[in-house]
Amino acid sequence: MVLGIESSCDETAAALVTHDRRILAQAIASQDEDHAPYGGVVPEIAARAHAERLTPLIARVLDEARVSLADCDAVAATAGPGLIGGVMVGLVTAKALAMASDRPLLAINHLEGHALSPRLADPELDFPYALLLVSGGHCQLLRVDGVGRYRRLATTIDDALGEAFDKTAKILGLGFPGGPAVERLAANGDPRAVPLPRPLLGSEEPHFSFAGLKSAVLRAHDSGKYRPADIAASFQQAALDCLVDRTSRALEAMGQVGTLVVAGGVAANAQVRRALEQLAASSGLRFVAPPRELCTDNAAMIAWAGLERLALGATGDPLDIAAQPRWPLDAHAEPVRGAGVKA
Ligand code: KG4
Ligand code: ZN
Repeated sequence: MVLGIESSCDETAAALVTHDRRILAQAIASQDEDHAPYGGVVPEIAARAHAERLTPLIARVLDEARVSLADCDAVAATAGPGLIGGVMVGLVTAKALAMASDRPLLAINHLEGHALSPRLADPELDFPYALLLVSGGHCQLLRVDGVGRYRRLATTIDDALGEAFDKTAKILGLGFPGGPAVERLAANGDPRAVPLPRPLLGSEEPHFSFAGLKSAVLRAHDSGKYRPADIAASFQQAALDCLVDRTSRALEAMGQVGTLVVAGGVAANAQVRRALEQLAASSGLRFVAPPRELCTDNAAMIAWAGLERLALGATGDPLDIAAQPRWPLDAHAEPVRGAGVKA
């Protein structure tokens, strides 16, 4: 059993997970209300909120599961990438708990949490698999050959898809967080009503780009010619077309895999899941998407990544390990031409 801690962005979370995939207890404190007035996550506010909420949250999950720290085999916490203040709160807390209970500390890459989360939900999911990781900070296509063995085939050269959803929501005045709000509004709109670009569609390298799409959404909105629901639906459709095209290109370049997996916050979107499920079917692949609550940030995926490492013989990380604002899953991936600073 592992205690997992997550604090890399705007969710404070703790969870207790067992090696046989039972989530004994989990709690998530969302900071949506703290950040809503600013239309996005404010790092300083996030770090303070994590510091206030994390310890009572951990006490709550231990209580709910009726276990103590001494019953845990390890304490796993996100050590990056993410907003550094928040990551430090979670990691320092985990270090203190590990030291006090004399249990190993597991410093987990948040992206690895997302990448392995489908295996927590689905015991049948074996390596290798193709992974589309779509969240607020990342948009990547990876080949996952095992725990710690990731080959990145594509990434975004500008914005992540979740970021594009959030910006579209902001333009349409839908509030924060934007992804679910855009999805809801899009359900009442016509996906063909607004002509929007599909950046990089059909290009040789399977990379993504969403900045131009976001600007086009802004122009469409400012023109006053379109209903917000039609803009939302057309944006979502353009994004889906890009996702499917880019993923199918990456699958060609990836070599043999049996399963297409989608993970990360945007994987909570029903249309995204449906489009990828169709792509998998037409490519002769099995399709796996974790339940929605495991797609958005949570601590069960962090505990699970810890359990995967323990199962491979990990004995813990040194207590002086540092929090890392950047920490790519594939350290050997070539930098992408035209890309900004995103990992
Ligand atoms: O994985 P996550 O919780 O945090 C990061 O690690 O970034 O992903 C959050 C992102 C946000 O951009 C949010 O708008 C997006 O996932 N998201 C969605 C949906 N639910 C969350 N995007 C589209 N449709 C959704 N239903
Ligand atoms: Zn995440």
